[in-house]
Amino acid sequence: MGTRQDPNGTHKNGGGPSTALAYLDPKYWDERFSTEEHYEWLKDYSHFRHLIQSHITPNSSVLELGCGNSQLCEELYKDGVTEITCIDLSAVAVENMQKKLLSKGFKEIKVLEADMLDLPFSNECFDVVIEKGTMEVLFVDSGDPWHPRPATVTKVMKMLEGVHRVLKPDGIYISISFGQPHFRRPLFEAPQFTWSVEWSTFGDGFHYFFYTLKKGRRSLDDKGSSKEKLEIPSICLFQDELEGEDYLFRTNIDELNC
Ligand SMILES: C[S@@+](CC[C@H](N)C(=O)[O-])C[C@H]1O[C@@H](n2cnc3c(N)ncnc32)[C@H](O)[C@@H]1O
Repeated sequence: MGTRQDPNGTHKNGGGPSTALAYLDPKYWDERFSTEEHYEWLKDYSHFRHLIQSHITPNSSVLELGCGNSQLCEELYKDGVTEITCIDLSAVAVENMQKKLLSKGFKEIKVLEADMLDLPFSNECFDVVIEKGTMEVLFVDSGDPWHPRPATVTKVMKMLEGVHRVLKPDGIYISISFGQPHFRRPLFEAPQFTWSVEWSTFGDGFHYFFYTLKKGRRSLDDKGSSKEKLEIPSICLFQDELEGEDYLFRTNIDELNC
């Protein structure tokens, strides 16, 4: 969690790129994954396992977006979920993840190179779509978080429409994120989506958000995107309170919110 472990087993704390814009460059991720063995964005599974368990059962078919070199899929597998597909845009991440899972005997987990903005799956085929810190990548050049650039909104909506499409009629999208509800709700609650939107928080000093979007559960009196300012937990923190390089994702929001 928040630490990088290279193949020699040494840890590098906070060794991120000089600017968060690098996260938009697929070459950045390929280079990074060619030397980095494990890095867990936000928090590791142990911190939100209690929140996941009521939504995922051993029979669930699960799609993880942007797996990187996280242990999330392994942890789900150890908890009895065997039908897991992971995707990542980075060919290096995919190859490394495939090798690692095979070496650990987790042969059923599928790992594919794919873009979350263009999901190569048929409609309504997963019970759960999950991502941790992956949607965040789309926001690194969003500008003002209250008024994200149209190009950012277009990409995020493309991703969300794909997630909504591949979920079964009663499927759940779980998004584990830094993004606060007043920034995420207008996007999650766009009129074309039939899911309800709820969230919990986890973490100690810093609150992370655990969103659950349940397809087919949107209430009929919810007319669409919420524009009102919502009550939010007090999470205006200094960057050095975040572990590793997580602070890079937060830069825009902190500047405007603190
Ligand atoms: C911030 S990391 C999160 C990794 C992992 N989920 C975790 O929790 O540690 C973002 C990951 O998303 C991947 N990624 C970026 N853009 C993507 C896209 N369009 N489609 C799929 N994966 C993408 C990156 O290669 C990287 O592995």
